[in-house]
Amino acid sequence: KDLTIKEWKTNKGIVEEEIDKEEIDKEEIDKEEIDKERFTKDQIKNLLEVPSNQIYGDYSLPCFYFTKIFKMAPKLIAEVIKEKIKMMDTEGILKNLEVVNGFLNLYLNKENHIKKLLFEGRKEDFGCGKAGLAQTVCIDYSSPNIAKNFHVGHLRTTLIGNSLYHIYKKLGYQVIRINHLGDWGTQFGKLIVAYQKWSNKEAVEEKGIEELLRIYIKFSKESEQNLELEEEARSWFVKMEQGEKEALTIWKWFKEISMIEFERIYDLLGVSFDYYTGESFYMDKVPDLVRELMEKHLLSESEGAKIVDLNQFDMPPCMIIKKDGSSIYHSRDLAAVLYRKKQYQFDKCIYVTGQEQKLHFEQVFKVIELMGYEWSQNLIHVPYGLVRLQGVKLSSRTGNIVYAEDILTEAIKRALELIHQKNPNLDQPKEVARKIGIGAIIFHDLFHQRMKDVDFSWEDVLSFEGTTGPYVQYTYARAKSILKKAENKPKIDEVDVSLLSDVTTYSLLKIISEYKESIYEAANRFEPSVIARYTILLSTAFNKFYHECNILNADENLRDARLIVVDLTQEITKDAMGLLGIECPEEM
Ligand code: ARG
Repeated sequence: KDLTIKEWKTNKGIVEEEIDKEEIDKEEIDKEEIDKERFTKDQIKNLLEVPSNQIYGDYSLPCFYFTKIFKMAPKLIAEVIKEKIKMMDTEGILKNLEVVNGFLNLYLNKENHIKKLLFEGRKEDFGCGKAGLAQTVCIDYSSPNIAKNFHVGHLRTTLIGNSLYHIYKKLGYQVIRINHLGDWGTQFGKLIVAYQKWSNKEAVEEKGIEELLRIYIKFSKESEQNLELEEEARSWFVKMEQGEKEALTIWKWFKEISMIEFERIYDLLGVSFDYYTGESFYMDKVPDLVRELMEKHLLSESEGAKIVDLNQFDMPPCMIIKKDGSSIYHSRDLAAVLYRKKQYQFDKCIYVTGQEQKLHFEQVFKVIELMGYEWSQNLIHVPYGLVRLQGVKLSSRTGNIVYAEDILTEAIKRALELIHQKNPNLDQPKEVARKIGIGAIIFHDLFHQRMKDVDFSWEDVLSFEGTTGPYVQYTYARAKSILKKAENKPKIDEVDVSLLSDVTTYSLLKIISEYKESIYEAANRFEPSVIARYTILLSTAFNKFYHECNILNADENLRDARLIVVDLTQEITKDAMGLLGIECPEEM
């Protein structure tokens, strides 16, 4: 019984560690925590160990971590906690508690615990539909720029935002999905000039965004030599701001052309929005903003422009009106958030963009705070890292740009090839290929923690093994096919749960019971990767169960009990994948 901390290190979270190789070394966190004065629930959960030898219990809590809080010897601490836990355990989940040196060893009453685990797994909506009751969240995501290509960065905001929408919806929030299209700004002045000089109606109609992009790039090059072009562009934008008809007609047409392409991508991804209120929508709301800022003595002049000085907060000034009198990204965002607060009375407003916009949002939120709105606390920027495309063929359209749409269609094509190889008799192969291909891209993107950069490679995306979407989908299809073969569907109250106490099944049940918690964690951290990782843990545990535990050929009682586990797994897998915005084919 004289074990060192090291020896107590266990197989806990082997799977977690496997998928988390990049994470900080566990030893290091532990050392840090010994000095702690406070622990969150999650941290305590992390401290719980699973002894490799069951004679030390199902869990063990090393109490020397708490010496700083209790100012007592670990052994005494363990005694105190033991008594507390005993009193709390009204459901009889624990069979026994034992103090050994500084450790509190917990022995579960497996039958009661399994019942509880199963119960958690089959609650309606997994027990999380009420958290957000009567609360509203706005999510501003995707928001591509008109007349520019929808690139992989926009793919990330689209997927993260869409997943956050599903997660918050699951928690019972009213969610408002806003596509803050980049459809206003000086670039449209440039585009109009470029169009008049180097393009025509037919070309734009035929080639769409590709043509708009071509002339935009040409404009940038030409204007380096010819400064007059910039002037001309600026005056076209001013005309747009003043509502001049010709300018607006061309702009509107560019927008329509772009929207056709964006909608194609949204259709492929299964993403939709409640509002497409882009930047142009707020243009006429900027004068009110200016008035309010002036009344609150926040506006000052700088070289002809109107700004809010943020010097004392170590930030550059927030530009409100440019010296030519036009609005700017910042002022349109400020007008937008005031409008949203009034219109939707949100409790939270979330913005999903690349991390390079961090300063922009800090400035915008600061100005709202200075205007005296305490709800500035509820404005949240959710940034994300870069996508690095290695080995991805550049578009044949423009030669040097990767279009998100090309990646999506390529994924579907590759998935179809895989189906032809692996299961040529599959029903509706095209539909399944779409679900697999798109699912693979979404999963790959969301599996990475938001702030980490993503290296994209086809091998990682479409593999049927490892931490991929197809792997989880395949697991789901496997569970479905077992249930189909079983024909009868046992009732959960009628099975003998004590038959599920072997280590493999029990670990699977534990993961099943943790679904709800992972939804909360994903929501609190604005981190869909929590759900993606959960689906991998669940799939891995299920496949182990599938290989080790005979299901269909087991004795009737055992078979029925195991079928309940299969059923719960498929239900949760489908639901969790739905939270990521991924569909699971019934067969693949
Ligand atoms: N259009 C911007 C871009 O493509 C993103 C807009 C994000 N939303 C916002 N409210 N500023 O980078």
